[in-house]
Amino acid sequence: MSGHSTYQPQHPFMKWMERRLPIAGLVYSSFIAYPTPRNLNYWWTFGGILTVMLAAQIITGVVLAMHYTPHVDFAFNSIEGIMRDVNYGRLLRYLHSNGASMFFIAVYVHIARGMYYGSYKEPREVLWILGVIIYLLMMATGFMGYVLPWGQMSYWGAVVITNLFSAFPGVGEAIVTWLWGGFAVGNPTLNRFFSLHYLLPFVIAGVVVLHVWALHVVGQNNPTGVEPKTDKDTVAFTPYATVKDAFFLICFFLLYGWFVFYIPNYLGHADNYIPANPAVTPAHIVPEWYYLPFYAILRAIPDKLMGVLALGGSILILAFLPWLDTSKVRSARYRPLYRQFFWIFIATVVGLGYLGSKPPEGGYVIAARILTIYYFAHFLIVLPLLGLFEKTKPLPNSISESVLKDGEPIGASAPAKG
Ligand code: HEM
Repeated sequence: MSGHSTYQPQHPFMKWMERRLPIAGLVYSSFIAYPTPRNLNYWWTFGGILTVMLAAQIITGVVLAMHYTPHVDFAFNSIEGIMRDVNYGRLLRYLHSNGASMFFIAVYVHIARGMYYGSYKEPREVLWILGVIIYLLMMATGFMGYVLPWGQMSYWGAVVITNLFSAFPGVGEAIVTWLWGGFAVGNPTLNRFFSLHYLLPFVIAGVVVLHVWALHVVGQNNPTGVEPKTDKDTVAFTPYATVKDAFFLICFFLLYGWFVFYIPNYLGHADNYIPANPAVTPAHIVPEWYYLPFYAILRAIPDKLMGVLALGGSILILAFLPWLDTSKVRSARYRPLYRQFFWIFIATVVGLGYLGSKPPEGGYVIAARILTIYYFAHFLIVLPLLGLFEKTKPLPNSISESVLKDGEPIGASAPAKG
């Protein structure tokens, strides 16, 4: 981590420990004295929210696994058992299933924040790419978790998604058989998905450590996109960022609680309360909401292989964003045109999400094709060209200049009331 620890242990035990394993010093320099840009807004609280959500998913998941049976004959009933017989089992399950949605809401806000303020730009490319890896791991984890209740949507979702690999010429069929552990989605498939669903969150936690490490090396970006230059531009992480993070975490948990306690099945699909039946295909196979934009891209393209490549490409292209965006200016605040294209892009993704939930026919397919083309054009045409032609607004000289009056905190010279 960057920054020197000014930590001075007082207690004899802490002094003894600090010479052997300076963990308290590391925490102090990274999360207490750490210089944080003074102008961070609430969009910067989502990294902390994501960390808490990852912990929440691991804790609820580990307890759920104590009562879950990863076998095709028992999985569905074991989930019903958790809902009906296990103490607080219903709460536990709803915390976990809605927790996944909340985790994805937070990650989408976090990614969009990065895109709006240009947080992926030099020197934060590795930090960003680690984020894209986390996102891919989250998608894999969520997919395998959804298969575990072994309802109709679990089963048919697994069939559709694993079958995508058969599109690869020559090796496709072999890959699918290898993924399944047999010649159909069955018990070995469920078992390995359970094993991986348990494993991957810990892999995510490992990549998050690298992500936060990289963050502490390059420092946080901020709404101006101008790097901090003097001490006036930053404040100590604690109490300023910790209190702000904690406040917004509570607001976020109110939303989480609203889903869990009032509408726990709103984001799920009714068909998943029907046990998996390989002989009956559901009328519409719909993935969880957080995959819908990519599902729409997959189905927009008539050729299966091209659809699969477009699906993969639509996520992987994010990793190249630092180089596709040619603008020298980071923040959309000073990029009037980019700001508009950013919102058009968000509308495109939301539109694709809507189309992903609709049957792939008629006008829906045409609209999905147009939005898919625009999705890729945003990265491959709009961003490279904008950087070359956009007339940006003048940047402030420093963070403090943009938020402080005469270099002093606003209101600091006001007479004390009382
Ligand atoms: C489990 C998921 C994740 C966790 C726990 C996590 C954690 C964090 C934390 C704690 C921060 C600092 C606070 C903040 O800026 O909000 C941060 C910053 C950042 N994250 Fe993530 N992150 C995750 C996923 C992602 C993803 C998927 C991406 C991008 C694809 C990403 C890109 C970034 C970037 C660019 C920054 C620097 C932002 C800035 O300083 O402006 N993160 N992350």
